[in-house]
Amino acid sequence: MDVAVKNEVAVSNDIGAVGERPRVSDYAPRAYPQVIKYMGSKASILRFIGEGFAKIHEPDKPLVDLFAGACAISGGFGHLAPIISNDIQSYSATIASTYLHKAQNIGAFDIVSLAYKVVQEKLSALPAGLLYPENLNLEDFNELEGRNRALLQLDFSFAYHLFTKNYSGTWWSAEQCVWIDSIREVLDQLHDNRSIGIADFQLGLTCLMHAMAYTSQGTGHYAQYRDAKTVSSMKDINKYRRQSVASYFARKFDSLLRWNLANATDRRHQLVSQDYHDCLADLQPSVIYADPPYAFVHYSRFYHAIETLVKYDYPTLQVKSGEIVKGRYRVDRHQSPFCIRTQVREAFADLFDGVKESESDLLLSYSNTGMINIEELIDLASSSFGKRYEVWFENIDHDHMTMGRLKDRSRQVKESLIMAKRR
Ligand SMILES: C[S@@+](CC[C@H](N)C(=O)[O-])C[C@H]1O[C@@H](n2cnc3c(N)ncnc32)[C@H](O)[C@@H]1O
Repeated sequence: MDVAVKNEVAVSNDIGAVGERPRVSDYAPRAYPQVIKYMGSKASILRFIGEGFAKIHEPDKPLVDLFAGACAISGGFGHLAPIISNDIQSYSATIASTYLHKAQNIGAFDIVSLAYKVVQEKLSALPAGLLYPENLNLEDFNELEGRNRALLQLDFSFAYHLFTKNYSGTWWSAEQCVWIDSIREVLDQLHDNRSIGIADFQLGLTCLMHAMAYTSQGTGHYAQYRDAKTVSSMKDINKYRRQSVASYFARKFDSLLRWNLANATDRRHQLVSQDYHDCLADLQPSVIYADPPYAFVHYSRFYHAIETLVKYDYPTLQVKSGEIVKGRYRVDRHQSPFCIRTQVREAFADLFDGVKESESDLLLSYSNTGMINIEELIDLASSSFGKRYEVWFENIDHDHMTMGRLKDRSRQVKESLIMAKRR
């Protein structure tokens, strides 16, 4: 059955009384600001998902976003029900916090001014000749890139140097990395001395993730950075090298904080950073929205840099043939069974079992380009859930966002919702 996206206008915070069947208009998503560029974001199909919730959600139950990613569910529906937002990657809980918990105190601080002083000290302790002028020839530009990358071998005299050491000359310049480290340092200090709470801290980190995404010379993720092979690629990379982390941070900070204070509502939301098996094992009966990866690429490879920003744990970097790999990946990055052809079927079988065992209902997003054929997945859902559940599916076509500077930046994908509701 093909579902058209209707234009509902009413936005309500009230899903009706317990026991009453909600209306579709009760689940119209609210407008919310996106913060990072995320592969497979469901931001553009929230109306369709809301129509699905209207069919299976009951007002007294939490909504579980089991594979939350950049948190479109918390952004769109966080005012309607208690949300349990889970993802194996820690940065996801940081973003979810920004949509769900009020940041009451951080507005009193000028983070950029506080960081500015720290930045000046750090820059003066680094070797000279790391800054990017506007006009350079290709040879000089690549020498400068080399000097930035050489900071990987430097012994640092100051604390908070993780990005400056590990990522200078990759997605960011040394100067941009110094800003990333310094803003992180200021946020830690304010949190440690209790000037700000955890929701404030998470909002600050979310703005920093945003600034990282928009100043990066890559394509919105951190799988590979670009090399300057031609004058035209050099010019494009240099545009990004010269972008200001502080300006992107400050702009997002103002608008996101305004949105957060006006819209985040305390509905006993929970932030979880677990493997989906563990998250399911702890659940009371809920309505679970599951949007697992459907391609063979691991999110942990594409978004390792923001995972490291949130953990700030000086990770061991992956080594191949005696050299740190170009992508500077963390060695401990997660390999998802949904991205491995030999494991994906069992991963879904475990998902269906976990939903059943917690006596929950399920909305599962998947696409016709996934690792497992959509018909096979629907059959697996029907046989796993058995007679105790009604199982059905609906389709939507949308221009699915892919990342990369390719001509077919968005390609048509048919997105399905498989639904399983306890009878
Ligand atoms: C398609 S994305 C979710 C996108 C999200 N719905 C949005 O709109 O931003 C899939 C997510 O699944 C997460 N993931 C992969 N394997 C996981 C696992 N074993 N347990 C929990 N989360 C996992 C990834 O980190 C990724 O963020």
